Amino acid sequence: MEIKARVEHISTTETDAIALGLFDGLTPPLTGGVGELDAALDHEIGALLDAGEFRGKTNETLVLYTHGRIKARRVILVGLGKEEKATLDRVRQAAATAAIKARDLGLASLTFALSSLPDFASPAKLAEAISEGAVLGLYRFGELKTERGEERADPAQLVIIATDAAALNEVETGLQAGRVIAESTALARDLVNRPSNVATPSHIARVAEEVADATGLACRVLDKATMEALGMHLLLSVNQGGNEPARMVVLEHNADREDLPTVALVGKGITFDTGGISLKPGQGMEAMKGDMGGAAAVIGTLRAVALLDLPLHVVGLTPLTENMPDSLATKPGDVVTSLKGLTVEIINTDAEGRLILADALTYAGEFAPDAIFDIATLTGSRIIALGDHAAAVLGDDALIEHLRHAGEATMERVWPLPLFEEYGEQLKSDVADLQNIGGRPAGTITAGFFLSRFVPDEVPWVHIDIAGLGLTDKARPYAPKGGTGFGVRLFVEALRTWGAANA
Ligand code: BES
Ligand code: MN
Ligand code: ZN
Repeated sequence: MEIKARVEHISTTETDAIALGLFDGLTPPLTGGVGELDAALDHEIGALLDAGEFRGKTNETLVLYTHGRIKARRVILVGLGKEEKATLDRVRQAAATAAIKARDLGLASLTFALSSLPDFASPAKLAEAISEGAVLGLYRFGELKTERGEERADPAQLVIIATDAAALNEVETGLQAGRVIAESTALARDLVNRPSNVATPSHIARVAEEVADATGLACRVLDKATMEALGMHLLLSVNQGGNEPARMVVLEHNADREDLPTVALVGKGITFDTGGISLKPGQGMEAMKGDMGGAAAVIGTLRAVALLDLPLHVVGLTPLTENMPDSLATKPGDVVTSLKGLTVEIINTDAEGRLILADALTYAGEFAPDAIFDIATLTGSRIIALGDHAAAVLGDDALIEHLRHAGEATMERVWPLPLFEEYGEQLKSDVADLQNIGGRPAGTITAGFFLSRFVPDEVPWVHIDIAGLGLTDKARPYAPKGGTGFGVRLFVEALRTWGAANA
């Protein structure tokens, strides 16, 4: 799909459809760009509003034929919801809704005019929201279907009309950024959607290498022998019940820039979580193909960070393995020594994410980071505590505050839980330094507390629990059901605004 910016007049632009965003409750006479268009269309838009046939409710649509009165063949009206609730997210949603409508109609081109949008944000931000929303909305995962008879092709061309020549550069920059962020999210969605027999640890490592080749990231993949030599026995203990060898991907942006702040991102990459010997119930277990959603988010983020060329040294680490039961698998009660040297009694082999993350967090210390974030589909308790609308975050208060802003901007929202030291009592082991589960109460917190023991000393760190958010069975305006890519947009926003907040 081609996405481009142009300076043109809304009534002379040649396109299959113009997408027009309208607020809820708008009444004629219409003014500005919308007013001009309405006048050219014999006030049909005004009449529809007057009659209450189009009300501007969020993501409501109506298609109008222009019959040659303007060069565009159709106008797709899209509701933006109430004006006082206007946000860039509503623009993303409206762009996605219009793009999907255009595809459903089999259109080849779709045009957005900034003059038809409220100017509550800069042309760059509006253009970014439009291209991001449209690309995310059009996403679908079709690579494993051989029969796609009924499906329409995506529009070949999206155009954003800038208000004037002065804004063109800004619009161009914004639409490119939106596209990079959406396509990086799509990469994470693909990795989550791929089943575990396709997206094995070595497959994901290969994808990371391809991303690195295409974007200039540095990439190293640690194999099992290297993990043995380093002493990553927690990661290896999760891997030993399966046939697929573990991998750890290390992606780096600006690897050689010692002058820049270093941020490490660590993503849980369990390519399938059976629970191991502490086997999960069969019902719904297929969702555990998505237990590498954290790793997918980290790889997607590094792609975007490279293409946006952010002025930071960013390191992405993804420990990758299946969690399988087998005669060689780790058994409840086994004690394993971590990379850090702490011994862990593995009471429940289904609490495996924290084990692989523990070694990866310790390893992150090699890069002398100024901050570490880990992201993981870690606990079912996260779903109970916060449901569909916020990831849980635990750790450094200032970093959490920064993430909260990024979460509001991207609508990948986060909400804090405490890490009071008393929670550590629940992880006391009779035979080892600590055990890997803390019982039913505060499951998301004790998981986070476990991780905190493996974070390099003095490094500010935040743990992000995205269990249930990376793979969903509910479609959203710009996220069909399946892999969501949750975390990519959140991280990219947090890293883009890093300098401003951490100066
Ligand atoms: N991968 C799961 C957590 C999960 C649950 C992710 C639902 C997505 C949807 C994790 O490895 C796990 O099994 N956690 C256990 C921990 C328990 C054994 C302490 C859980 O949450 O039940
Ligand atoms: Mn598990
Ligand atoms: Zn898991």
